[in-house]
Amino acid sequence: MILSTEIETNRLVLRTLDQKDATQTYLSWLVDPEVNKYLEIRFANTKTLKNLKTFIKTMNDSPDNLLLGIFIKKTSQHIGNIKLGPIVYEHQRSEIGFLIGEKSQWGKGYACEAIAELSEYAINDLGIVKLTAGCYESNTGSRKALIKAGYTVEAKLPSYVISDGNRIDSYLFGYQK
Ligand SMILES: CC(C)(COP(=O)(O)OP(=O)(O)OC[C@H]1O[C@@H](n2cnc3c(N)ncnc32)[C@H](O)[C@@H]1OP(=O)(O)O)[C@@H](O)C(=O)NCCC(=O)NCCS
Repeated sequence: MILSTEIETNRLVLRTLDQKDATQTYLSWLVDPEVNKYLEIRFANTKTLKNLKTFIKTMNDSPDNLLLGIFIKKTSQHIGNIKLGPIVYEHQRSEIGFLIGEKSQWGKGYACEAIAELSEYAINDLGIVKLTAGCYESNTGSRKALIKAGYTVEAKLPSYVISDGNRIDSYLFGYQK
């Protein structure tokens, strides 16, 4: 089954991206060191519009992934993305990952709102029972957004990632109703 949806939240629309959404602005988030600091995308050698379009198509064609753009409802501004995947249907389990690329929109509760609503959608509409998310120890914004959305720390992974040249811990967050 190909996954595609549009979820309306209080202030946001979370919807499947199309090729037109692969803009220079979206690309600029991925190369911004302040934004990609905690994202594995920072290790990708080539970050181009062509790659972005291929990524969107691959995600849209995948039965195990749901990539959604995060749009402000009032203005239709694309401010970030949230992804559910890979979905492991056999275990009714999935991971979530997210970014708010527009730095002017940080701290407004948008990440929390998107995480909470996509988690509900995963549980109610896709039959997922268990959700997880990874978060670097130093990523305060992500940690707070996950906790506010109802996630709890289920494991500490010591010395798990390299951040700013140092080995640091990562947290595995989990959510289950
Ligand atoms: C981390 C990120 C998703 C947070 O998004 P956001 O929409 O600003 O998050 P929220 O507004 O829901 O914030 C939740 C809390 O974190 C705080 N916060 C947000 N960014 C913060 C930062 N850089 N430093 C400290 N606190 C921060 C908010 O003030 C809020 O605090 P409160 O609960 O005390 O009010 C966003 O900054 C981002 O996308 N960063 C780059 C990519 C990334 O790190 N993605 C997550 C990978 S796990």
